[in-house]
Amino acid sequence: MQLGFVGLGRMGLNMVTRLVRGGHQVVAYDRSVEAVARAEAAGARRASSLDALVAALTAPRAVWVMVPAGDPTESTVSALAGLLTPDDAIIDGGNTNFHDDVRRAQALSAKRLNYVDAGTSGGIWGLQEGYCLMVGGKADVCKRLEPIFLTLAPAGGYLHVGDQGAGHYVKMIHNGIEYGLMQAYAEGFELMHESPYKVDLGAVAALWNHGSVVRSWLLELAASALAEDRDLADLQGYVEDSGEGRWTLQEGIERGVPLPALTAAVFTRFRSRENNPFAERLLAALRNQFGGHAVKKAP
Ligand SMILES: NC(=O)c1ccc[n+]([C@@H]2O[C@H](COP(=O)([O-])OP(=O)(O)OC[C@H]3O[C@@H](n4cnc5c(N)ncnc54)[C@H](OP(=O)(O)O)[C@@H]3O)[C@@H](O)[C@H]2O)c1
Repeated sequence: MQLGFVGLGRMGLNMVTRLVRGGHQVVAYDRSVEAVARAEAAGARRASSLDALVAALTAPRAVWVMVPAGDPTESTVSALAGLLTPDDAIIDGGNTNFHDDVRRAQALSAKRLNYVDAGTSGGIWGLQEGYCLMVGGKADVCKRLEPIFLTLAPAGGYLHVGDQGAGHYVKMIHNGIEYGLMQAYAEGFELMHESPYKVDLGAVAALWNHGSVVRSWLLELAASALAEDRDLADLQGYVEDSGEGRWTLQEGIERGVPLPALTAAVFTRFRSRENNPFAERLLAALRNQFGGHAVKKAP
């Protein structure tokens, strides 16, 4: 089917490529001219502006937005809403907060525009492996867009999970689980790294992907990283977060659902960005105050 696509970064360009290979007609736009040229080389039709993109599509149109969540997605959706006509659909595939989906869906419905939130997982491997899609939106609209979802996803990798917001809600929790899994692997491998046994960490990660209950794709990635360098010596242990972990925690607090593993994982990331943090300095100071315990002075 025909699809407009906005945002041709790490995710978007590969998704456009997969859609073109799947026989869809894609009209692609990005604020970067070079990115649009890459999409054209992959077989998409180029658009030089959002106006041009909308003009190149036949109603009822469908436009996939794949830009950073927050202001970039908000401004892109608003601009599209001013250009599209009733029954057209906007699909947000970025990592949007589900509260924003609900608000946008209501605002767009006043213009008789459809809004679909497609939680997308697969990262830079999605081009070859397919993207796991968690889709929220009106059932009839999602059904109309199904050829797109079925091409992007691997077999069995697409599900309509509920009304608007449900797709990103499920994706948010998916990412929260991802934080916890990564934290558990990181802790276990650190202990093995520090052990007296000179265990081949990459080989163990690979081993566990053969019949073990902890096998997973994350473990395959760990095997690959550890095979390159057992000590990960070139890396700094500085870990960013992109919001979904925090949102999942907020939702747990809102609903009174305990999330201890995720809490530890999110706060470990915060701590990873600090150098000689105040809290640890205060711990040392207190032990020194009450017990005269030795402290190390800052260099
Ligand atoms: N990377 C992943 O593994 C992954 C997985 C699932 C979901 N996602 C989500 O998918 C979305 C895209 O991620 P990505 O990794 O492809 O990001 P990316 O590589 O940074 O690409 C983002 C694209 O959006 C464009 N953009 C940035 N700000 C914009 C704005 N204000 N208005 C219009 N376009 C703007 C960028 O253009 P410039 O290059 O000119 O800045 C770029 O083409 C995000 O919401 C992300 O959370 C990412």
